[in-house]
Amino acid sequence: MNTPVVPDGAYARFCELVYQKTGLFFDEDKRYFVESRIKRRMKATDSESFRSYFVNLRFARDNEEMQSLVNELTINETYFNREPLHFDAMMDEFLPDYMAAKALKGKKELKIWCIPCSTGEEPYTIAMHLLERLHGVDDWDIHIHASDIDTRVVEHAQEGVYNTRSVKNLPSQWVKNYFHHHDHDGQKQFQISDGLRGSVDFSLVNMTDPVDVRKMRGMDVIFCRNVLFYFDEATRSKVANHLHGCLNRGGLFYISTTESMSRVSNLFKPRRFEKCLGYVR
Ligand SMILES: C[S@@+](CC[C@H](N)C(=O)[O-])C[C@H]1O[C@@H](n2cnc3c(N)ncnc32)[C@H](O)[C@@H]1O
Repeated sequence: MNTPVVPDGAYARFCELVYQKTGLFFDEDKRYFVESRIKRRMKATDSESFRSYFVNLRFARDNEEMQSLVNELTINETYFNREPLHFDAMMDEFLPDYMAAKALKGKKELKIWCIPCSTGEEPYTIAMHLLERLHGVDDWDIHIHASDIDTRVVEHAQEGVYNTRSVKNLPSQWVKNYFHHHDHDGQKQFQISDGLRGSVDFSLVNMTDPVDVRKMRGMDVIFCRNVLFYFDEATRSKVANHLHGCLNRGGLFYISTTESMSRVSNLFKPRRFEKCLGYVR
């Protein structure tokens, strides 16, 4: 019989430490996944036993091993133009009135935050929609911020190199406009153009840390899609309420079409668009 990597009582203590430090919530159901990631980190750090790995993780002077572990524990699935109804509703139904009201007040500035951004497909998609579809885009001062807790994905996003699967949902003309493609080991690779890369600011943010989140105030739109499943109910509410504080009055907030705001936060007002749901402050 295989001896478990993590002794029974220690698994709960390990999950509690990860929860405290990052907000990522794992329970017995995720044990197989979590143990496989711990094994990788034990191998990478030459740890002889789980106990010695855990002691090093817990008492390390810096955050380095916790960050490497987090990078292993996150699931970064994403692609360009994912859940496109959100982009259509933002472009066709939300922004026209919202921006007209801002322009009337003489504030031709728009701030959009994509959290979490994973490997960058989502914020670059937002940039493409704005460039392709926003009338008078050059008259506006537009900032697109994109953040994630995982250092590897943020680096990937900044490099901006993708495969065929990532770009499959984009109109082919957009692929031509915004990527250079070349072959790498027989596989097609798509490198985002310098212009588009420069239009997104990437940063490391732990969205369960209120100090990190509070740095990003005054947003007009926040995309917060496909992340709530990581958290328990208490953390989901905390995260949603802190993000609410980062949104301007009247600003738009999206979670994924597969996620629900019920029992998460009652601070947002639902906004029913023609084909999807958003939330406003
Ligand atoms: C499935 S991806 C979603 C990416 C994108 N929003 C989308 O919908 O395609 C989830 C991302 O959440 C990030 N994440 C998990 N916990 C986080 C936290 N506490 N703070 C910031 N990002 C986090 C993970 O690193 C991962 O890249």
